[in-house]
Amino acid sequence: MSLNPRLQDWHNRRVWLVGAGHGIGAALAHELHRLGAWVALSGRHEAALREVARGHERMWLLPLDVTRPEDWQRCRDQLLQQWQGIDLVVMLAGDYTPLRAWQLTPELARRMVDVNLLGVMYGSAALVPQLLAQSGGAIALVASAAGWGGMPNGLVYGATKAAVNHFAQTLYLDLHRHGIGVHVINPGFVATRLTAQNEFAMPALLTPEEAAQLIVRGFARGEFDIHFPKRFSWPLKLAALLPYRLYFWLAHKVTGL
Ligand SMILES: NC(=O)c1ccc[n+]([C@@H]2O[C@H](COP(=O)([O-])OP(=O)(O)OC[C@H]3O[C@@H](n4cnc5c(N)ncnc54)[C@H](OP(=O)(O)O)[C@@H]3O)[C@@H](O)[C@H]2O)c1
Repeated sequence: MSLNPRLQDWHNRRVWLVGAGHGIGAALAHELHRLGAWVALSGRHEAALREVARGHERMWLLPLDVTRPEDWQRCRDQLLQQWQGIDLVVMLAGDYTPLRAWQLTPELARRMVDVNLLGVMYGSAALVPQLLAQSGGAIALVASAAGWGGMPNGLVYGATKAAVNHFAQTLYLDLHRHGIGVHVINPGFVATRLTAQNEFAMPALLTPEEAAQLIVRGFARGEFDIHFPKRFSWPLKLAALLPYRLYFWLAHKVTGL
């Protein structure tokens, strides 16, 4: 039995994608629109959102900065005025700087925690009361396989994504009995401007379009943990179960760092 209500028919579903101006969010917007959904697009830069929405009739722009709780409330209210309800919100906004221990600064730490972790918490605070009032709908948080275990370059970023996984588990425990779906999405490497900063080889690299299709497949199966590609994500999950002596040895060996 699936852990969440299965999302299979997208016709006229009302979907809010936050972090949709580029990368995985933009590809997911196109895929869900193709399947018949109404899609609201959020991100900081309206021009990027406009570019994603160009030529698509059922798309709507709602510029927002996830680090500002008042932005979440304003956009939620605008959306409810227009749609009277929300079927799915996907939180994709993310910030990443590859960081080794000796490169850590308070500013970089704060930026990634603000966007990746507090952004998700502010968004949930704005939306959970609405989903409870509806007794339905779903919330999906985009974390990362980088959150499953420490890896060189993932300092701060990996910690925020580990926290998002934890936050999603607890949201699930509180909300699924109220009929609300909770999903956590853990991609491996996807070729976007975020990973374009990486100077190391990225195994099992996907296109944003491939990632979007795998996310839609996870929704259709009602999965809680939508992780992919499996040839990359399953070995990582298993590695995270190893005793530390073995895990640290493997992490050094695989990354060469
Ligand atoms: N690419 C990968 O390999 C990979 C792997 C695992 C997980 N992820 C996660 O997947 C999500 C999407 O990443 P991506 O690779 O598609 O990156 P991306 O192409 O850089 O897209 C990130 C999106 O987040 C938005 N954003 C950033 N800061 C924001 C803020 N403060 N408020 C509102 N929107 C903000 C950006 O738009 P604006 O700049 O216009 O605001 C952009 O649309 C992220 O959470 C990322 O951590 C990515």
